[in-house]
Amino acid sequence: MKGIVLAGGLGTRLLPLTKITNKHLLPVYDKPMIYYPLQTLINAGIKDIMIVTGGNNAGEFLRLLGNGRRFGLKDISYTYQEGEGGIAEALSLAEDFADGEKVLIVLGDNVIGKDIIREKEEFEKQKEGAKILIKKVSHPENFGVPVLNGDKVIGIEEKPKKPKSQYAVTGIYMYDSRVFDIIKTLERSDRGELEITDVNNAYIKAGTMTCSELDGWWIDAGSSPENLAEATQLVMKTGANNLG
Ligand code: G1P
Repeated sequence: MKGIVLAGGLGTRLLPLTKITNKHLLPVYDKPMIYYPLQTLINAGIKDIMIVTGGNNAGEFLRLLGNGRRFGLKDISYTYQEGEGGIAEALSLAEDFADGEKVLIVLGDNVIGKDIIREKEEFEKQKEGAKILIKKVSHPENFGVPVLNGDKVIGIEEKPKKPKSQYAVTGIYMYDSRVFDIIKTLERSDRGELEITDVNNAYIKAGTMTCSELDGWWIDAGSSPENLAEATQLVMKTGANNLG
């Protein structure tokens, strides 16, 4: 299975912090934000990793992460997203890199307290389809929200005004190689993006989506200054998995 960190976007919700840099390079306690999703992949046993970035500061990722040897990797692959086409568009750039294998994706601003080895192994055994990880949150309306029937997810609504569950779909996604064909069928949303929620709903419709509740804390550090500060607090107090 290959790993992908999606680290593009303009980070407008964190302005003015993001006026001169990419949000994934901002500090979360004592490390740049992107270290955490990278470590999530490495801890899950993924060795082949691509970073998708964009904007004016793409070169800084190379300066920061280099060839990955420091983190026990043989190499890191990079690609560049032009414009603001959304998470699913960023993912489509990794099609050749994935080369027919399953992929484990972590959004570059998602920081977690525990590893996801169990979830990754479950997905390795899954014959086909996709897997999402969900987490109970106090403000689901800020996220993709799963509509649940027991422990089965029957739909996902992106930032709904009236959430149908107390859960958020975290930015950790596992897909089989069909994901790239699904992205090619998507239409742009009202905000002009290819939405990852539409990808997930396509798998749900096909009956091949599974869903697990994430252990330990989860935070979308790049979605507001408050979350960025909370991520720092959580890492400082509990020591998330992070790169040395
Ligand atoms: C994205 C997804 C959303 C998901 C969230 C997790 O939202 O669109 O479904 O719940 O990531 O971090 P964004 O934070 O890019 O608005």
